[in-house]
Amino acid sequence: MSEGIRQILQAGISAPSGENSQPWLFSIDGNKVDIFNNAQRDTSVYNHNQRSHLVSHGCLIENIFIAAVALGHHARLELFPENANPKLISRFHFTAAEEQDESGLFPYIAQRCTNRKPYKKIPLLSEHRERIAQSITGIGEVKLKLTEDPVAIMRLAEVGALNEKIVFENRALHHFLFEHLTWTKSKDERNPGFYIDTLELPPPAHFLFRMFQSWPLVSFLNTIGFSTLIKKGNQNVYQAASAMGVLMTETKYDLDYINIGRALQRIWLTATKHGLAFQPLTGVLFFMQAIDGGASKRFSTEHIAQVQKHYKIVQKIFDVEHESVAIMFRMGYDGEPSARTSRFPLENFIVKN
Ligand SMILES: Cc1cc2nc3c(=O)[nH]c(=O)nc-3n(C[C@H](O)[C@H](O)[C@H](O)COP(=O)(O)O)c2cc1C
Repeated sequence: MSEGIRQILQAGISAPSGENSQPWLFSIDGNKVDIFNNAQRDTSVYNHNQRSHLVSHGCLIENIFIAAVALGHHARLELFPENANPKLISRFHFTAAEEQDESGLFPYIAQRCTNRKPYKKIPLLSEHRERIAQSITGIGEVKLKLTEDPVAIMRLAEVGALNEKIVFENRALHHFLFEHLTWTKSKDERNPGFYIDTLELPPPAHFLFRMFQSWPLVSFLNTIGFSTLIKKGNQNVYQAASAMGVLMTETKYDLDYINIGRALQRIWLTATKHGLAFQPLTGVLFFMQAIDGGASKRFSTEHIAQVQKHYKIVQKIFDVEHESVAIMFRMGYDGEPSARTSRFPLENFIVKN
């Protein structure tokens, strides 16, 4: 692998992914790089039909485009280049070229992160609102809608927080969360996952969280309102934001989710550039995708009804008609998060060089 391609892929893999699953594999042949989906990295209901992974691949692709230009390369992309191989998501051909990095986003690839703190409840600066809106120009058919209405933000915070309530009431999702959590920075660096300190838990919850690995304990606590308390706590954090936004598409093809990921990454990097903290809130939307897509047996009847009710809140607030809402997020002004996640070394993702 040339040094140029190494640097481009290194920037690529700082991309976000659901629960930091990092679902990519690279096969490198000269200046051609094939990128495969690693479906095993998330077999949960969040990733029904690989949609969460496809969004993450979109983020990776956007990073690669931005990094290639900034590092003196032209990148030509083919999406799903081989019909017979759906795991082959993208193929890049790199050539040396002097192109202008018009986005100016390259320096923010390394700085971008998820910030789960409460943010200041102040409006977005109009310049920031405009830059965010412009950032996705030219990316497929993705639509972005934002709201800064405090009442809407409060209701959307409740939608976001339903995810955590369901996680603490659904055994498979509870297992999935604790399987991915890493408990110390050094362990996270050795085997990167979902690092506990990035959850920004308040001190008592941080201390008690290890105990909540026990499903019998959590089931018992739920009989006295534990999961509802978790929802309330998260709702309070999520509503501390300047704006909430959604990304949606008219259709639900695999390509749509790649484009959603590319748009998400553009918005996130633009937000980072302007000092805005950012957190995706996607659980309930991915649950809705799974329920619509025939995976309803992985949820209780009560949870299905709650997810449908909360999805309708999103549709109403953002005037969604026939579009499918894939991503919701919050943005706002805040300092640095308390901690950051790690990544596996690039070598771990290379299947052929
Ligand atoms: C498709 C997708 C869905 C995500 N959903 C959520 C979410 O619902 N809540 C959340 O706090 N973070 C969410 N994240 C953020 C990831 O957990 C985060 O990107 C990952 O742990 C790596 O951390 P970093 O973003 O700080 O690099 C999501 C990221 C992606 C790409």
